[in-house]
Amino acid sequence: MYDMETKTLKEKFFALYGEGDVAGYFSPGRVNLIGEHTDYNGGFVFPCALTFGTYCLIRKTENPFFRFASMNIETREQIPLDRLTTPLAKGNWVNYPVGTLAQFIKRGLHFSSGADILIYGNVPGGAGLSSSAALEVVTAVAINDQYQFGLGKIDLALMGQKAEHEFAGVNCGIMDQFASAMGEADHAIFLNCDTLDYEQVPVKLDGIKIVIGNTNSPHSLDSGKYNERVAQCKAAVETLKPYKKINTLAEISAEDFFALEDKFDDDVVKRRARHVVTEIKRTTDAVRELKAGNIEEFGRLMNGSHDSLKADYEVTGQELDTMVEEARKIDGVIGSRMTGGGFGGSTVSLVKDEAVTRFIEEVGENYKRRTGLQPQFYVAEIGQGGHRIF
Ligand code: GLA
Repeated sequence: MYDMETKTLKEKFFALYGEGDVAGYFSPGRVNLIGEHTDYNGGFVFPCALTFGTYCLIRKTENPFFRFASMNIETREQIPLDRLTTPLAKGNWVNYPVGTLAQFIKRGLHFSSGADILIYGNVPGGAGLSSSAALEVVTAVAINDQYQFGLGKIDLALMGQKAEHEFAGVNCGIMDQFASAMGEADHAIFLNCDTLDYEQVPVKLDGIKIVIGNTNSPHSLDSGKYNERVAQCKAAVETLKPYKKINTLAEISAEDFFALEDKFDDDVVKRRARHVVTEIKRTTDAVRELKAGNIEEFGRLMNGSHDSLKADYEVTGQELDTMVEEARKIDGVIGSRMTGGGFGGSTVSLVKDEAVTRFIEEVGENYKRRTGLQPQFYVAEIGQGGHRIF
């Protein structure tokens, strides 16, 4: 088991629900290396699963309800079987697991009795490392296994995404749940978010570490701003449709897009689309360069990704920009960018082994001086997707 002793989790479970059998599951958070805000446009992403994430302990009962508790948050809920498809109040963490249970029912898979569930997460909240996807996927994996519903992991990921849409109000793409379900140790997933075809690409980088920097910026993923970006991308497709038969921005090449740029009346919509089409190209280029061993080029594409997210997509903000700026000043940094939805959250940087300590010290100090916030750094280990642990 990863980070937390099985024993502590079990003790807490027994204290809450009584002694007896219990099963444990884990699903990771993710870090995206490149391909940001492309997933809901049918484009490519390149995320990897982390070794921190969310644990779910579960015991099926004869009760006509599910009980939910967490070691991170006080709120507990007891939800009757006939209320599992109804969202709880906005902001209640139990929306994520209940929203996931609801997806089984929507697929015609019913619960004849309930279960007791205890959650523990060690993905730093609000860090943009997909703590919510980890919670959805771990719930889906646990329920699917315990009730022997027999669904595949990609279906479980899709159900997690739906839970996010319907119970959290974020119209997210599939990247986070897919990475949390399908991750493999030491691999990043090159995923086509339109077809869900994917390739596991080895990322054991010789002499290089993936360093995550949590800005600890108070913004969390703002569903309003996120959904606004999703809507702007749809508006861009509508603008382009008279000239090019497309349903998503992934269906137009960067070249064709540039030839049609003057068709946009709305400059903001144009810039949003420009980010998406160029980011999709950067992502395919980056994977090709990585496979060819051109890590410096991969780093340059990461930098290009951040710059486009800053100028055209406008999802970075002062904290992410400051951290990336400071990171790029360090000798031995190959590339640095924001990762995840943005508006606060984390950066991801490729850093040569010998520069990692200096990176953490100097970026940490300069970031703190400039923003007044205390950042956190993690050297990422790439772990396995959702699975049973005991
Ligand atoms: C969030 C969403 C993902 C994806 C990223 C941006 O993490 O949940 O679906 O859109 O933002 O790439």
